[in-house]
Amino acid sequence: KTAAAIFDLDGVIVDTAKYHYLAWKRLAAELGFDFSEADNERLKGVSRMRSLEILLEIGGVTATEQEKTVMAAKKNDWYLQYIQKITPAELLPGVVPFLEDLRARGIKVALASASKNARVILSRLEIEPYFDAIVDGNRVAKAKPDPEIFLTAAADLGVVPAHCVVFEDAAAGVEAGKKAGMFVVGIGDRRNLPEADLVLPGFPGFDYEALQAAIGADPE
Ligand code: G6P
Ligand code: MG
Repeated sequence: KTAAAIFDLDGVIVDTAKYHYLAWKRLAAELGFDFSEADNERLKGVSRMRSLEILLEIGGVTATEQEKTVMAAKKNDWYLQYIQKITPAELLPGVVPFLEDLRARGIKVALASASKNARVILSRLEIEPYFDAIVDGNRVAKAKPDPEIFLTAAADLGVVPAHCVVFEDAAAGVEAGKKAGMFVVGIGDRRNLPEADLVLPGFPGFDYEALQAAIGADPE
């Protein structure tokens, strides 16, 4: 039986991908190449430094570690400017009703995001009070698909992994959740998330009962 729900942030609770994209595109432009929205797909769920490396690879640019640090800081400054303007209106549909339902059922809730800016975003969205634990990019050493972030969240909540459900939009996150021994709900398109136990296009119409029905039907 589910005792805890662990949420990824970017792409699950809020669409910050567009802001990451704007900031990376600006950096690419400064470096003299174009960065497409299709290429941006490769950066979803990927850490800041790894994202920069993929971006530089796309542009055919080589840089020293020191230059990379400067570039990543610049991108983050722009990103922070964009997310300062986020409002609760940007919460993805159905997220708050689902969080309310979980709370009413006594289910513990955690955030497990690779982003070092997760707390700023939760605060802008005014949803911090829904979370019993927050594990962000400042707290973990190993990035998804390593299960560390989800196992840390479960430990914070005091719930065994087998009783946790993960909500993820990125393939690396789904893989991390499975490695942690959790039931994983993919948010998005089944084709991009073949390893998920269940895939939803989004939260509208979904609730705790539907989740229990899906877990009950799971052969594992
Ligand atoms: C999430 C996003 C990635 C982002 C990463 C690090 O996983 O999906 O696109 O690169 O967080 O975010 P940060 O805010 O720390 O740069
Ligand atoms: Mg995500």
